[in-house]
Amino acid sequence: MFKKILVPLDGSPPATAAAKHGIQIAAKFDAEVIFFHVCPNLNFMNEFSIHAAIDYTQLKEEFTLQGEKILANALLKYADTDLTIHKKLVWGYPSEEIIREAKEGGYDLIVTGSRGLSAIKGYLMGSVSNRVTKHAPCPVLVVR
Ligand SMILES: Nc1ncnc2c1ncn2[C@@H]1O[C@H](COP(=O)(O)OP(=O)(O)OP(=O)(O)O)[C@@H](O)[C@H]1O
Ligand SMILES: [Mg+2]
Repeated sequence: MFKKILVPLDGSPPATAAAKHGIQIAAKFDAEVIFFHVCPNLNFMNEFSIHAAIDYTQLKEEFTLQGEKILANALLKYADTDLTIHKKLVWGYPSEEIIREAKEGGYDLIVTGSRGLSAIKGYLMGSVSNRVTKHAPCPVLVVR
């Protein structure tokens, strides 16, 4: 039933919990898991950074390093399983890229955290998990 599972990771505790659930479901269904991270779109900075004291290239490198670290940590955690686990890092708006990946990659399930790294904790779900549950082409499991 579930053969390909997308787990979007931002390094937050709910996303880490989502990874655990994604892995457990994958083990039951002998599914493939893809840990997915979206680095924020910085294209607007190209123009802006000319006028500000911001090193665009350095910032981009830092986001890439941070994203790769999140994915590598998750892979390492489940390295001793027999499951097929891949990682993927892209640039863009997180919800858009997660939905695009789910559509284009033919996934059967998305396992996402309810909240992420945002400091505002008033809502049950963050904007990314909210948009993903609304627009995903497949079932979504939201993990708290
Ligand atoms: N950049 C990202 N890359 C991959 N997955 C992400 C990213 N951002 C969020 N997610 C996924 O979405 C889940 C919910 O995070 P979300 O960003 O919606 O909540 P938040 O950070 O608390 O609130 P908001 O970002 O709306 O202020 C995370 O647990 C994670 O699974
Ligand atoms: Mg967030």
